[in-house]
Amino acid sequence: MGAVAMDTTLKQTWGIYQVYIGKKLVMVASGVVLVLYIFGHLAGNLQIYMGPARLNAYAAFLHSHPGPLWIARTVMLAAVGLHGWSSFLLWLEKRRARPIGYVKKDDVPASYASRTMMWSGPILGAFVVFHILHLTTGSVPGLGFRESEQEQFFAYQNVVNGFQHPAVAIAYVVAIVLLSMHLYHGLWSMFQSVGISHRRYTPLLKRAAHVVAILVAAGYISIPLCVTIGLVK
Ligand code: HEM
Repeated sequence: MGAVAMDTTLKQTWGIYQVYIGKKLVMVASGVVLVLYIFGHLAGNLQIYMGPARLNAYAAFLHSHPGPLWIARTVMLAAVGLHGWSSFLLWLEKRRARPIGYVKKDDVPASYASRTMMWSGPILGAFVVFHILHLTTGSVPGLGFRESEQEQFFAYQNVVNGFQHPAVAIAYVVAIVLLSMHLYHGLWSMFQSVGISHRRYTPLLKRAAHVVAILVAAGYISIPLCVTIGLVK
């Protein structure tokens, strides 16, 4: 191969690599925004254990600041779109790079969580759409949603009324288990994605991601569970 052809190949490879890293960075940055939301939303929701007045006052507080609320919603929506789009493009690239696929799946020491990333993402997206229709817009019939009246919000009653339906409670638990697996893999692999990998610290990061994912799942799942067993009513 001549020097000019070699130079062109190197430049092309470098260009492809830069685009690839760009997509990874978009996936990681948007993932961080979503994780922060998931932590914040959990902290807000756990106020359900302080009674209806507290949770409803929290909902009223959020809605009394429409500016920041809509900015947060727009950022979230952009993060969801960018996260889904960049992971889809990266998945396509991976497939193109290895079109034949593995003969035996067992040869790949991938965890269950990592193998579920590509389908748990869209399922979680569908869950969030259902969740917004359920608790934000109250568009799911039969779940006892009560519209806010003047300054009075009924977030507590809406959550309890919804989770009193076993099918709804089960659907939430399943979605949260998927979320937790997605979070576990996403949290530790995000460091690999940006090139941070260490023989000693990567296993520690994995363990930390495990703990965080389990705590998040436990916090969220506790709510439909407590409504189902009658501790929150
Ligand atoms: C037990 C679990 C959960 C409960 C009790 C819960 C509760 C709520 C409530 C009450 C609202 C309506 C807030 C309002 O408009 O006043 C809401 C909105 C929302 N929740 Fe959840 N949530 C849960 C799980 C989740 C999960 C796991 C996610 C994300 C994966 C999520 C994402 C959202 C989003 C994106 C909104 C819309 C926020 C907005 O309208 O600005 N929620 N949730």
